[in-house]
Amino acid sequence: MLYGDGMSPTTPTVVSDLDLPSIDAPELTDGERQALVASLAPDHWIVRNAIGYTVLQYADVVAVLRDKRWHSATSKIPEMMGITDREFLDNRRVSILSAEGDVHTRLRRLVAKSFSPRSADRLRPFMREVVTDLVDGVAATGRADIAADICEPYPIPIICELLGAPRDDWQLFSRWAEDVLRIFNGNVLEELDVIKAARAELDEYSRGLIADRRNDPRDDLITDLIAAEEAGDRLSTDELVMMVDAVIVGGTDTTRNQLGCAVGLLSGYPEQWKLLAEQPELAPRAVEETMRYFGAVRGTARFASEDIVYRDVRFPAGTVVMTSLATANRDSSVFDDPGTFDITSEPSGQPHLTFGSGIHYCLGAALARAELQEALPILARRMPDLAVDGEIEWKPSTTAIFGPAHLPVTFTPS
Ligand code: HEM
Repeated sequence: MLYGDGMSPTTPTVVSDLDLPSIDAPELTDGERQALVASLAPDHWIVRNAIGYTVLQYADVVAVLRDKRWHSATSKIPEMMGITDREFLDNRRVSILSAEGDVHTRLRRLVAKSFSPRSADRLRPFMREVVTDLVDGVAATGRADIAADICEPYPIPIICELLGAPRDDWQLFSRWAEDVLRIFNGNVLEELDVIKAARAELDEYSRGLIADRRNDPRDDLITDLIAAEEAGDRLSTDELVMMVDAVIVGGTDTTRNQLGCAVGLLSGYPEQWKLLAEQPELAPRAVEETMRYFGAVRGTARFASEDIVYRDVRFPAGTVVMTSLATANRDSSVFDDPGTFDITSEPSGQPHLTFGSGIHYCLGAALARAELQEALPILARRMPDLAVDGEIEWKPSTTAIFGPAHLPVTFTPS
């Protein structure tokens, strides 16, 4: 029999038999739940949640994410949400977000080059233009809701430019992105028709864009993906359509919420905000430190594709395990002084986990880093005395992608 450490002589305990604290008592408020999770993390590697278990510490989070027997739970979302609509379930296709094994390896090999830091760098001047336009829209009033006025609209033009979709279609993309992402909302059953319609329209649009680029190659992602080849293998049209979908699902809400988290966090550290305005070269470090200290993706789910023994505990096939990226990013056995936020400090030895780890590590990480690195110093320079006006309204911490719902600020008009 195989054991987690390869040599333990004991019989593994089934995870359900462990005496574990729970983090999902119904009477807990969101704030109490977050405080409970943070207080348990230093002494508990695993706790119970409403649908399974959560691993809290850096080493275990990385171990689970790098173990290919743990599969992405993305493919299970429709079932977990209670969707029984046959048409919807049957029309699901393999996505890079949920594929595993050889299917995932092949897709990742084919698309990796198109998402390189160099490809992302091509868009930096455009990113600066977009942020500058958004700030221009509020600068004269000296007031803004950073979440609604800056973060919300920011990623759509970038994704459109990346894909090669024209400016006239930004509004369409914005609506499709919003509707497709409703799959993560609580009331998905009522919104299923809207989600299905958006998916169908986006698919048709993507097919048109792909046909155009096959005839008329340009300097954009679709053209790159059409040309991508590995040992004579290429992406099919269906796979190209899937990639457009994955870029929208993976690349819009994440970026806007991470930017909101970063501004919300930095608003509590005015001296670091001023420093960023004066020294834009601090931006790359500021992005890594804000993502470590306050990431928009707090965790990601896996299920056991077979019986798995880890740390002498048996996880029966089907067990759902949440990996808590947020607590792992504050693990004191990995980060020096993890409770201190400082954009000028040298990074500790290990990377933060807000982009995940293992085979599903964020494909858009270079693009996301570029978007945040360009946006933050412009915002700091244009709003150097930014102050929160009232209170920041945060989404519930259990939201798949966390950030501010409203971030009202004042600053000196310009
Ligand atoms: C700050 C912004 C972002 C954050 C925090 C973020 C976070 C993540 C995380 C945690 C994962 C892994 C999920 C898992 O293991 O279950 C992931 C995967 C992914 N992300 Fe991002 N992401 C961001 C931006 C983007 C952007 C801009 C794009 C697209 C251009 C993108 C596309 C993807 C894709 C396609 C995957 C799936 C990769 C695979 O399964 O092989 N992400 N992201």
